[in-house]
Amino acid sequence: MSLPSDAFRHVAARPHEPLRTFHPRRAPLGREREDALRFLWPRLGFSVHDADSPMPRTADGSLDVVALFGRSAPLVLEIGSGMGETTATMAAADPSRDYLAVEAHLPGVANLLGLLDRAGLTNVRVAHGDALDLVRTAVPEESLDAIHVFFPDPWPKARHHKRRLVQPSHVALLRSRLRVGGTLHCATDWVDYADAMLEALSADPFLENTADGFAPRPAHRPVTKFEQRGLDLGHEVRDVVFRRFR
Ligand SMILES: C[S@@+](CC[C@H](N)C(=O)[O-])C[C@H]1O[C@@H](n2cnc3c(N)ncnc32)[C@H](O)[C@@H]1O
Repeated sequence: MSLPSDAFRHVAARPHEPLRTFHPRRAPLGREREDALRFLWPRLGFSVHDADSPMPRTADGSLDVVALFGRSAPLVLEIGSGMGETTATMAAADPSRDYLAVEAHLPGVANLLGLLDRAGLTNVRVAHGDALDLVRTAVPEESLDAIHVFFPDPWPKARHHKRRLVQPSHVALLRSRLRVGGTLHCATDWVDYADAMLEALSADPFLENTADGFAPRPAHRPVTKFEQRGLDLGHEVRDVVFRRFR
């Protein structure tokens, strides 16, 4: 198994199609994260795009979560886990569910691996690459207990809104992978994105709001660096939590 690279090839047939929801960036890993990758990736990670670090698959080609986690438990998918603080904190407080964190930025993947090792967590696995590609190609319908999308890249310019992760077509895709009763939980510190999230989730015929409008901030979601940066700029944070009801 080879170590992942930030130069992973997007599956798009043509560049930028389907559009990326993340900023392609390269950043040096540093010694500690290189070590985390070297020692922990083979056991805890897989690549969405690189055949040298493949995901375990069932006979029909889907992600084999029992092989991945070594048990069968409700699965939470976190899209864009960033540095992984939220994943590690929430998974530690929720040992009866498994967490699959997907992040396109390699230093974030490596950072989360280090957090998992230091905390001794066994219910988290980490995928590197585009989470939407993973969901489209390998996550079966009605298989997820929850999906978390916390502080997705805001793409604030109107001409970039089509790159936003939370938009109607992606909501329909994600919702199709939730079990009936499963939840889609999004959070953002961009007011217009929060309004667009609420609108997109409200319009989905299979989802119902768990709150009256925006949801109260859940105590179990820690404040990450991204969120703190928004708070320091005076942004207001909004949570949107919908449940699949049919
Ligand atoms: C603003 S950061 C927030 C990170 C984290 N959720 C937090 O709250 O601190 C958004 C992250 O989502 C990742 N991302 C965006 N689109 C993605 C996708 N389609 N697949 C995987 N990661 C994605 C970006 O690389 C970035 O690290």
